[in-house]
Parts: sequence; structure tokens; C-alpha cells
Amino acid sequence: MPAHPPPWASVATAVHHAGGTVHIAPVTADLTPHWEQIEPLLHPTVTAVVLAHVRGRPAPDTVRIAAELAERGITLIEDCAQAWAVTVDGQPAGSHGTIAVFSTQTWKLIATGEGGVVAADDPDLLQALRSATGDTRIPAAGGNPWRGNCRMSELTAASALPQLHVLDVLTELLHPLQARVINRALGMPNVQLVLPAPDEAARSNGSLVGVWLPTPNDARRAADRLYRDGIRHWYPSTGDLHLAANWPVADTHSEVDLACYLDIQIPMLDEHHHDEFLDAIATALAGSEAQ
Ligand SMILES: Cc1ncc(COP(=O)(O)O)c(C=O)c1O
Repeated sequence: MPAHPPPWASVATAVHHAGGTVHIAPVTADLTPHWEQIEPLLHPTVTAVVLAHVRGRPAPDTVRIAAELAERGITLIEDCAQAWAVTVDGQPAGSHGTIAVFSTQTWKLIATGEGGVVAADDPDLLQALRSATGDTRIPAAGGNPWRGNCRMSELTAASALPQLHVLDVLTELLHPLQARVINRALGMPNVQLVLPAPDEAARSNGSLVGVWLPTPNDARRAADRLYRDGIRHWYPSTGDLHLAANWPVADTHSEVDLACYLDIQIPMLDEHHHDEFLDAIATALAGSEAQ
């Protein structure tokens, strides 16, 4: 049961391929569901919940969700595709559930082109995963000879290692500019909510700042302006497969209008370019007021 936006459609596809049925929990304005959104969907056939830590921030209600699910014997899978170097309550994102899945696809903080990493504490579970995904040195569970092939090549893994070694350095470099973008956005009258909030920023990996604007038109205009200025950002355009509304599942509904949201990627910039970057962001976000 993944949340409404914005994991990627491949998460639900994996559930579908495993013969499961996907149900979608709606998100709140912080882009993740809280326990209140998940609990009503927990009918007796639900065996696992996928909770995504999206846009470089921890899902704010993770600790409660993990505790409530554990009490009910439901597996929590943390989707950490966007959560490299993110922390939840002082612990790394991914340490609250049974399994954590990290992506190394091109746009992630650790990028190898395609690929990913599964982390878990249970050695038997990891052995079973290795076996099922193509490690033929491990006997298949139950003697089942069928094997997939989801192995990351040695070459791909090798390209992730130097990035992992400097991950903390990278987030340290991103946080100061992220803090300034957050403060600038908070000072703009048309910006209704900024993610992360200043007191959450240290738990994020510094890579993004999200803003909620009053109308979809405001968000689209700001996104167009950022595009023209060559500033990387994400705005959920029509058909975007980050939105469960575009997945082939029946029961999607949303508590918020994602068309009012966009986020800005924090670049690795020399400090003497920070003012210029902030001015460009402010101009893009103010565009809706000026027109
Ligand atoms: C939150 C989230 N979950 C899952 C994925 C899928 O990762 P991959 O492309 O490695 O399958 C992505 C990729 O965009 C993502 O952002």
C-alpha cells in the first residue's frame, strides 16, 4: 500500500508483479500520509505498507506509523529512493521498517544511472532476496528454480562507492544554501508553505526546497520561469508517474492539489553565486504576484 504522490510507478508495479493489490493512502501538504491517512485503509488483507520519504525529507509521522504497524504485525517497507542522508528522529531514514529500498537512478543523491540498494537487518530475508534476484550461489528458497535478475553490476556499484564516501560532505555543502532559499521563500507573501520548515532542514539532505503556491497557475508560471532560467525543479505536470492519479489503480484520491506545489533543486554553487541564485528563485516565485 504505497502513498499517493510521489513515489514512482515502479513501486506499485513491483507489488502488482508479485500478485498483490495496490491501495493508495492520500498525502497531506507535507507530501506524505500520516497515520490518520493510513489507518482507515488497513483492512485484514493488507500485509505491507510502503512509506516513502520524499523530496529529501523524512516522512514526518514515521515513528508513529512504524509503531502502529508493528503492533498489528504489518510489514513496513521504507522507500528511501529520495532519502539518502535523511534522518528520522536521529536515526537514518530506512531504519524504522523491516526493509529499506534506496534508488541510485540518475537523479538521486547517489547516482549510478540506474540501480538501487536494499537494506534490512534480517540476514535470512536478505539471503532470500539475493537468491530470488539472481545470486545463483545461494540455493533458491523451497527448491524453486525460477530466478529473476535484479543484480547491480560490480561496475555500477563501484561508481556509487566514492559518492557514498562524500555524502556527508555533500549535504553539509548543500544545507547553507537550502537554509537561505527556505528563508527567502518564507518571506514571500504568496508562498503558503515551505518544505522543509527551518527547524526540519537539518533532518533533510539539503537537496530540495518545496513551496506551496495559491493556485496551479501560480505554480506553473513559477515552474516555467525556473525552466527558462535553467534552474532544476520539479513540478507535477500532466501524466507524471510520480502521481498515483496516473497509475492504473482504482481508489486514488488526494487531500491536496499537487498542481499548487513545486520544488527547487539546491545546486552545489560557490558561495559568491548564492545571492544571484536566491534572486532568481525569488523572481520566479514572485512571478504570479506580478502578473
Ligand atoms: C520515491 C521514489 N520511489 C521509487 C523510485 C523508483 O526508483 P527506481 O527508478 O530506481 O526504480 C523513485 C524514482 O524516481 C522515487 O523517487
